[in-house]
Amino acid sequence: METNLLTKYFGVENSRTLDFYLSHGGYDNAKKALKMTPEEVIDEVKKSGLRGRGGAGFPTGVKWGFLPKDNPKPRYLCVNADESEPGTFKDRYIMEDDPHLLLEGIVISCYAIKSNKAFIYIRGEYHYGYTILEKAIEEAYQKGYIGKNIFDSGFDIDIVLHRGAGAYICGEETALIESLEGKKGQPRIKPPFPAIEGVFRCPTIVNNVATIASVPWIIEHGFAEYAKFGTEKSTGTFLFSISGHVNKPGIYEVPMGMPLLQFIEEKAGGVIDGKKIKAVVPGGSSTPILTPKDCETVNLDYESIAAHGSMLGSGAIIVLAEGTCIVRSLLNLMHFYAHESCGQCSPCREGVDWMYKTVHKIEEGTATEKDLQTVLDLANNMEGKTICVFSAAAAMPARSYITKFKDEFIAHFDHKGCPYEKYNYLAD
Ligand SMILES: Cc1cc2nc3c(=O)[nH]c(=O)nc-3n(C[C@H](O)[C@H](O)[C@H](O)COP(=O)(O)O)c2cc1C
Ligand code: SF4
Repeated sequence: METNLLTKYFGVENSRTLDFYLSHGGYDNAKKALKMTPEEVIDEVKKSGLRGRGGAGFPTGVKWGFLPKDNPKPRYLCVNADESEPGTFKDRYIMEDDPHLLLEGIVISCYAIKSNKAFIYIRGEYHYGYTILEKAIEEAYQKGYIGKNIFDSGFDIDIVLHRGAGAYICGEETALIESLEGKKGQPRIKPPFPAIEGVFRCPTIVNNVATIASVPWIIEHGFAEYAKFGTEKSTGTFLFSISGHVNKPGIYEVPMGMPLLQFIEEKAGGVIDGKKIKAVVPGGSSTPILTPKDCETVNLDYESIAAHGSMLGSGAIIVLAEGTCIVRSLLNLMHFYAHESCGQCSPCREGVDWMYKTVHKIEEGTATEKDLQTVLDLANNMEGKTICVFSAAAAMPARSYITKFKDEFIAHFDHKGCPYEKYNYLAD
């Protein structure tokens, strides 16, 4: 069975042009959807079991159903192309290699939620992807596939491409909305959730690029075919980004539920130099780390990873081979989170920086076991006490690195510094 639902034309010459897309049935699914009622499209997506690919894995059709029925304000679709979670690079390839797939997904999704305007909020550093999408949008306007009365259906749709400026927090949906509105990119207090009050205080659906790009396939083949991939509760395929100590880092689309070790071996070519796995980050930097024992039984679906104490997140798998310093890895992460906190909430602003400085002390060999407890206390006290879950995104990996690899932190005290010569340098 073919499993390249999103990646079929990746790497194929001219795959990003409208001519190529049309010669492979492009926009036929949009035409098909426009002949259905919006409710039928939502129902199809709901029944497919598609869950958001941005990190939380929330069922997409259910989210669309949260839009208020009686609000006369315009509705918006916001496509989250901020993709800043360390280790994640799946959306980038969709935008660069098959931009019209995303645009067709937007047309269908907007029709389903009765919206006439979509925004694509693209990560500032994705300049190349931006130019490709810009061109694709222009081509689609010229052909009349977006704009007024598309396919003579009476449905109008405009797509606005907006560049971010390089802040990780702007991937959080309400910070993204603030930034899109021209304000400082800081998360809003929820509720109200975007479905009730989003862009310009109007009902808004925020969805990840890979989520929206999955919609045309579902419309073409039907929900039942989509649900044949994956497991009962984690349906479909997932575009995993794999990096770190593997022979073939990259993105690979597989049905959800594949055993992690099989994925590493068969897709990513195994661990470099035939080394053993020391740890795996399964779903982006915010997700708790897995030990080699966890790896033996974990599968790549939401439920299995949760049962192993972590999360599928954005599907960014980072493999650490034996010989890697876990303290140094955590230091690297804490450096990132300390830099990226938006600063609105004291537990996050102060806590993450404090964690970073304490882990720095541990790595350089000037800390005591009391400092280790400080990091744990900080992690426990910042989670759930802030405006957004960024603080949890920093606390969860910190807690898991320490509890699962405590011996290694202790070794730093005994050794008065990092026992791994090769990695014994510090982030500034
Ligand atoms: C700190 C933080 C960063 C995030 N970054 C991204 C991101 O880069 N891309 C993304 O799609 N979702 C990101 N999210 C999740 C979004 O808030 C939101 O849940 C998602 O875009 C919804 O889309 P989905 O339902 O299709 O997954 C982030 C969340 C947090 C808390
Ligand atoms: S938790 Fe951190 S990133 Fe989120 S709003 Fe508060 S300070 Fe900003």
